[in-house]
Amino acid sequence: MSENCVNPDPNCQLCPRLAAFRSENKIKYPDKFNAPVPSFGDESAKLLIVGLAPGLKGANFSGRPFTGDFAGELLYGTLLKYGLAKGEFKARPDDGLELINARITNAVRCLPPENKPLGSEINTCMPYLKSQIETMPNLKVILSLGLVSHNTVLKARAEKLSAYKFAHNATHDLGGGLTLIDSYHCSKYNTSTKRLTEQMFHDVFKTIQQYL
Ligand code: URA
Repeated sequence: MSENCVNPDPNCQLCPRLAAFRSENKIKYPDKFNAPVPSFGDESAKLLIVGLAPGLKGANFSGRPFTGDFAGELLYGTLLKYGLAKGEFKARPDDGLELINARITNAVRCLPPENKPLGSEINTCMPYLKSQIETMPNLKVILSLGLVSHNTVLKARAEKLSAYKFAHNATHDLGGGLTLIDSYHCSKYNTSTKRLTEQMFHDVFKTIQQYL
């Protein structure tokens, strides 16, 4: 991997299990994206949103983070509400939706079996997140969706995990004008169990607005 590489090679082989799963899915779904999903949005943005990993029928099919599954409905709907996106979200990468002052990426770029990346896969993919963070010149806020994202952002920044406890809507000063904000992941599971309500997710964006 080159030193400042924000997105993995489309045929990345760094995680053998994920590469094998990708090959299986290419056969099963030959007309779908089936590759590491690149970040979406402008590198000059002040906000970076970090999800977990592509979902099978969402980002893995469409090639754009959070596009095509339930989590994206809530995320993009909220971004539109808070002026961080414009256009219409139609759950397709060619829907013309544009992010405003925001960029979206995932801690792990390839689809993991059962939506569960292994610790080793998270670590292997982390340099891409590190590069992504380092190559955003105006970055002020990182929004972590879920604990895996929170921990991976901290590791990418070489921070001590025990110094920053994950909590919904918590803010963590990472120094140098950078703030990490946590949210429960906007997954279907979390919303259907009411761990995360729409209002709770909106509250996180109200907090973000104060820091942008
Ligand atoms: N889609 C993504 O791109 N990331 C997630 O974390 C969930 C769904």
